Amino acid sequence: ADEGMWLPLFVKRLNQADMQKKGLKLTAEEIYDVNNASLKDAVVQLGGFCTGEFVSSQGLLLTNHHCGYDAIQTHSTPQNNILQKGFFATTRADEKTNPGLFVDILVRMEDVTGKVLEGITPGTPEQERIAIVQKRQKDMADAAKANGQYVAYVRDMFGGNEYYLFVYQRFGDVRLVGAPPEAVGKFGGDTDNWMWPRHTGDFSMFRVYASKSNKPTAGPEPDNVPYVPKKHLPVSLQGVSEGDFAMVFGFPGRTQRFLPAAGLQMTLDQSNPARIKLRDTRLKLWKEDMDQDPALRLKYASKYASIANYWKYFIGQNEGMKRLKTVDTKKAEEAALDQWIRADQARVQQYGEALSSINQAYMGLREYNLSSNYVNEAAFGTEIVTLASRMMPLYMTLKTTPTDKEAIQKAVDGLKEPVAEYFKDYSAPTDKKVFVALMSLYGKDVPQGQLPDVFETVQKQYGNSWSKYADYVYTNSFLTSEAKVNAFLANPTLVKLEADPGFKTFNSVYTNYTQNILPKTQALQGGLTRANRLYVAALREKNNEKVYSPDANSTIRLSYGSVRPYKGRDAVRYDYKTTAQGILEKEDPTNEEFVVPKKELELLKQKDYGRFADKDGNLPVAFITDNDITGGNSGSPVINGRGELIGLAFDGNWEAMTGDLAYDPELKRCINADIRYVLWCIEKLGGARHIVDEMTIVNNGPNPG
Ligand code: ARG
Repeated sequence: ADEGMWLPLFVKRLNQADMQKKGLKLTAEEIYDVNNASLKDAVVQLGGFCTGEFVSSQGLLLTNHHCGYDAIQTHSTPQNNILQKGFFATTRADEKTNPGLFVDILVRMEDVTGKVLEGITPGTPEQERIAIVQKRQKDMADAAKANGQYVAYVRDMFGGNEYYLFVYQRFGDVRLVGAPPEAVGKFGGDTDNWMWPRHTGDFSMFRVYASKSNKPTAGPEPDNVPYVPKKHLPVSLQGVSEGDFAMVFGFPGRTQRFLPAAGLQMTLDQSNPARIKLRDTRLKLWKEDMDQDPALRLKYASKYASIANYWKYFIGQNEGMKRLKTVDTKKAEEAALDQWIRADQARVQQYGEALSSINQAYMGLREYNLSSNYVNEAAFGTEIVTLASRMMPLYMTLKTTPTDKEAIQKAVDGLKEPVAEYFKDYSAPTDKKVFVALMSLYGKDVPQGQLPDVFETVQKQYGNSWSKYADYVYTNSFLTSEAKVNAFLANPTLVKLEADPGFKTFNSVYTNYTQNILPKTQALQGGLTRANRLYVAALREKNNEKVYSPDANSTIRLSYGSVRPYKGRDAVRYDYKTTAQGILEKEDPTNEEFVVPKKELELLKQKDYGRFADKDGNLPVAFITDNDITGGNSGSPVINGRGELIGLAFDGNWEAMTGDLAYDPELKRCINADIRYVLWCIEKLGGARHIVDEMTIVNNGPNPG
């Protein structure tokens, strides 16, 4: 299909004809309508980082296993390890609350570009423009919130050339209903991650609860009842064939398809190598300890999975950028754009500065970029520094209003839950090893003149040994134990906090970053914002026959395409679907990533597929489509031309790991769990037929397309 994560608001104008040609039977109003139930009412943003969809009139929500992973781990103990065993609630009372987890349901969206940019001209000084735009964005969002009834924000698109208002209802009572064993939900582990062919049952289930009047509540409430959504998706048992129309609705997180060549180059040779090296180090140290101790393995399971996910992403992105010569392609585009601009005096006036400003800004940013990366991935790669950073609001309160008991108590109260959550999954000896390794790399790799003063302390007082310094920090800091942190919180003083070696280390990194690095990068970014806006505007004007879709930014989008195989490389073709046969082929009881649970092995060997078998008598597991998606789409519904659920999007393929930076229609695929495998895992493997029965199962003949 074509590139594009489209705003559903514009389906009618931009895409409807093309979608219908490909097999869509729904009208634009059935997809997005403010006044009547439409598809958008069945799709939610989960926790701000994933997508989910309603599959019953009782608020039952389907998403990915890796989206529910943290919640599943939170409810697991070594004695009752539901992450490992899997879990399906047998009654509503068994469903598990998750304080802090929420879903956002879109009420409406609006193009507010005209209102935000009213009166602003190309001559408006940049600082003035920023101030006006920010104020209008905030005012509009505040008005739309209607006294706290809604969550609302205005997001910019196309580098600040357009603005959109989004209004949501936020439901804070989202309970865990079920998940398959991890060996199913994460089958293939990091080896298969970001790759096709795939055999993962990457799903989990939640239920959204609301007040008795079907209104959102801020958190779990004992009196809440299942939310009745305006719309839920019927689930199709029909199965997919090559060429079937497929639509993915969801909340893609971030793409940078307009990133200039200099930005791509910085990612390629600075940011990604640093991220890969630091994550590699952290993951190896965590794994050493996880392999020694099952309790620790459970504690670190979720953090490990999320760090490993993007570790492999950065590796794949860099490999792909080299293979596909992404920087060169972008450079050629920029050269053509430059020529187009220079061919016309009015264009030179309007856009002439864009490309040279961009290149200049990146020259400057390159000098500080490693510092930024090492702050994020090295210093904040250690848990003690991260915990120390959470003390900031309390620290500022103690410093600025030391006598305001109420303010101090409020800051303390705000820490209670995060601190308990943090220590539930914390091992100080493990963190100490990571601290030594990552901070040592920080000292070696970042330009000496940009290092925080704690490096001088370590050099002068600890013989430049982070190991010796870590002995001191982890022995004396109260940030290494829950009891000590709570003792401090019971009677917090500025003196105690400032003297803490863990906090001091954080504060040194933070102060250096905010005083010496950030002002430089922010000044450069300021110029870049303007240059980028002009660059994107010029590009769209030059290629005005092409309809661009805005970069992903965690707002609701729709992409459409078809079920489609691909050619991975010379002589290698990939089929569009996988079956349970592949699970048996990959099965390896000696490799934790490829263990198949005993019950699943038995069922598969007996070919006990029930009503979920395909026409050839196989159990379908996954399939690919050429939908344009990215992280944040995880858990998104794959919908056929009649608006029925046929799959769950959960990943992308290795050959197209540069997709967030540059789109390649021949290579990019969206990897989906076949809904029939999901249902099989619930009903046959999980013995939870009652959950399947809650859904609207349909069988309406072959998919359109
Ligand atoms: N790569 C997937 C994504 O970001 C996540 C897959 C999770 N599975 C895993 N083995 N870590 O959407």
